[in-house]
Amino acid sequence: MTKQTTWSQRFESALHPAIARFNASIGFDIALIEYDLTGSVAHAKMLARTGIISPEEGEQLVAGLEQIRSEYREGKFNPGVDAEDVHFAVERRLTEIAGDVGKKLHTARSRNDQVGTDTRLYLRDQISHIRTQVREFQSVLLNLAEANVETLIPGYTHLQRAQPLSLAHHLLAYFEMLQRDWTRLGEIYQRVNISPLGSGALAGTTFPIDRHYVAKELQFSGIYGNSLDGVSDRDFAIEFLCAASLIMVHLSRLSEEIILWASQEFSFVTLKDTCSTGSSIMPQKKNPDVPELVRGKTGRVFGHLQAMLVLMKGLPLAYNKDLQEDKEALFDSVKTVQGCLEATTILLREGLEFKRERLAEAVAEDFSNATDVADYLASKGVPFREAYNLVGKVVRTCLAAGKLLKDLSLEEWKELHPAFEDDIYNAIAPTQVVAARNSYGGTGFEQVRQALKNAHERLVAE
Ligand code: ARG
Repeated sequence: MTKQTTWSQRFESALHPAIARFNASIGFDIALIEYDLTGSVAHAKMLARTGIISPEEGEQLVAGLEQIRSEYREGKFNPGVDAEDVHFAVERRLTEIAGDVGKKLHTARSRNDQVGTDTRLYLRDQISHIRTQVREFQSVLLNLAEANVETLIPGYTHLQRAQPLSLAHHLLAYFEMLQRDWTRLGEIYQRVNISPLGSGALAGTTFPIDRHYVAKELQFSGIYGNSLDGVSDRDFAIEFLCAASLIMVHLSRLSEEIILWASQEFSFVTLKDTCSTGSSIMPQKKNPDVPELVRGKTGRVFGHLQAMLVLMKGLPLAYNKDLQEDKEALFDSVKTVQGCLEATTILLREGLEFKRERLAEAVAEDFSNATDVADYLASKGVPFREAYNLVGKVVRTCLAAGKLLKDLSLEEWKELHPAFEDDIYNAIAPTQVVAARNSYGGTGFEQVRQALKNAHERLVAE
């Protein structure tokens, strides 16, 4: 049987080995080790500074903790399941290195405020990393948009051809979504960056600790004002999972579009060989695995959010072991979001090419300029609804005759309504149809150029 040595003499026998394995988090919370060491260094310094331990003891603890850091980085620190979790593993090793003084590290601290601190330090770093990745992705979107202001692409509602768009406008819609993600993560960072250390197990501590000093050492911007809340709050993790889920929604929607665009039916993009895969049986296939995987991985992040909400909803104050379950949800979500952002950025930067000729054909071969005919009449004084009904009739006649609007002769137009003049042909040409939507935030080229400028300014402003 595993001899559990960390708990008090209250225990007469060791844990059943299967229960030890069941209970242990070391298999995954080892990922927190650097943060655990950093948190413990700050705690040890505070203990010395406040006179709770002597300055020499403080130095010995810090040196021992830094030695563990080196050992870990060199691959020499690999605690087993008997350590239970990363916190016990570090404390045990510290006592081996520094002797009895190692046993003083946990003075005025509990694993409850310790693990909360570690998780926040970890998440803070990951949020910064994800925000940088979001920025990189946005700059790729922006470059692609800049090169495609006058490239037209069919715009859809209900996945039916609606009105043509500037491709840049379409791409900038994603830029905006990612802009909100970036801002949202920045706001969440503020709430992650609060120190629970010093909350103790749940009620604070009898020692004269200096919570502000530790928080400052760890670059937290504030401390929890209520010890019970400090050890049991996981709102920050849920908020992060919400933000991560929204990033995945955005990536997944773009992925779905790329998958459609790469199909033979749309044929709007070609996937480069570096970012697509083949079939083991059908030699002609080129599959959009990257966007498919991003779309597929979205579900697991949503799942972690749901799991975390359910985890919290019935928990009485304060710490409960259930909270150990927060880590894998966070770790897997972080890994998934980071991986998906990286892959999607590469895909858009160098993995696909828009087929401009095909796109130009696509916008010329449908009735997505029908609104413009109605607008044409409306601008000549015909009430819009009347114009709309008339154009509906024209479309129906054209469909029956196998014609497009541009194929109608001026006589035919005039028969439909005397207000039509020769300039109707220009009004319904795809480029003009797009250019004319010059309302603020619309797809008109002038608006899109303004939007690009605006996006660029926001991208460089931190
Ligand atoms: N491994 C634990 C966790 O992740 C650390 C905190 C344990 N606290 C306790 N009171 N058992 O939640």
